[in-house]
Amino acid sequence: MLFKSIILIVALVTVYGQVPIPTRPDGFAVGPFDAHVVVEMYGDLICPGCKAAWPTVLKLIQYYGQKIQFVLHTFPLPYHTNAFIAAQGLHVIANVTNRDLNSILAYTTLVFENQQLWYNQATINVSMTEVLQSLANFVDKTQITTADKFIRGLQDDEINDHTRISWKYACSRGITGTPSFMINGVAVSADASWSLDDWKSVIDPLLATQRPSFTPSANDDCPTGQTKCTYAPHKTQCCLNGERCIPNVGCRC
Ligand SMILES: *[C@@H]1O[C@H](CO)[C@@H](O)[C@H](O)[C@H]1NC(C)=O
Ligand SMILES: *[C@@H]1O[C@H](CO)[C@@H](O)[C@H](O)[C@H]1NC(C)=O
Repeated sequence: MLFKSIILIVALVTVYGQVPIPTRPDGFAVGPFDAHVVVEMYGDLICPGCKAAWPTVLKLIQYYGQKIQFVLHTFPLPYHTNAFIAAQGLHVIANVTNRDLNSILAYTTLVFENQQLWYNQATINVSMTEVLQSLANFVDKTQITTADKFIRGLQDDEINDHTRISWKYACSRGITGTPSFMINGVAVSADASWSLDDWKSVIDPLLATQRPSFTPSANDDCPTGQTKCTYAPHKTQCCLNGERCIPNVGCRC
């Protein structure tokens, strides 16, 4: 037991000691930095689940405009062979366009829409150089930047480093898969199944007041004396007398 605790402490110290401080807050942010609500997405451009969630994320960004801040973090998963290149590509686009948000969102959207081109199986007989060139040619066609500039960015050690630091940052936040979402720094169970209305049901009460309190809804499915608590989209519990319905958590004393 003591031995296990020591190992855990050593592991934690090691993990925290290894994460470099990014030169700026991590991620690509849309919306004001002092926003009341900050939605973060940890995404992998070669992940089908992220692709599936992205159209609603775009709706979310458009719907709330300057009322919230949205931050996209790159978290390329190691078992998606070309994910790191695609993620570094996003850091390259940010670099060559001087962090132009339209270019950043356009690259993300277009790579998601065509991600099957860079799946493991699709590139199994293709060299790394050919994958880089294929992504560069793709970017060139989108006119976000030229293939030459893109390739140069992919060969740039500093941009490569930013992409690694970004990945380590996500690890330090406990991210293990994608898409992962946080609201004001707290993990939420959002995924591709969340509609814009689902997002609104969580974000609007936060925007409306510092301390949101969820009014219990009609007592439909709960035994007498208990109150129904819809604490997250598609997640409902019956609260006992004395318990509170806490958004994102459920019934708690
Ligand atoms: C782009 O990358 C170059 C080379 O690493 C760096 O010197 C420059 O500051 C970067 N520009 C931006 C806007 O990040
Ligand atoms: C990869 O190469 C092998 C061996 O030549 C071939 O059997 C296979 O169909 C190829 N796969 C793809 C996706 O091109």
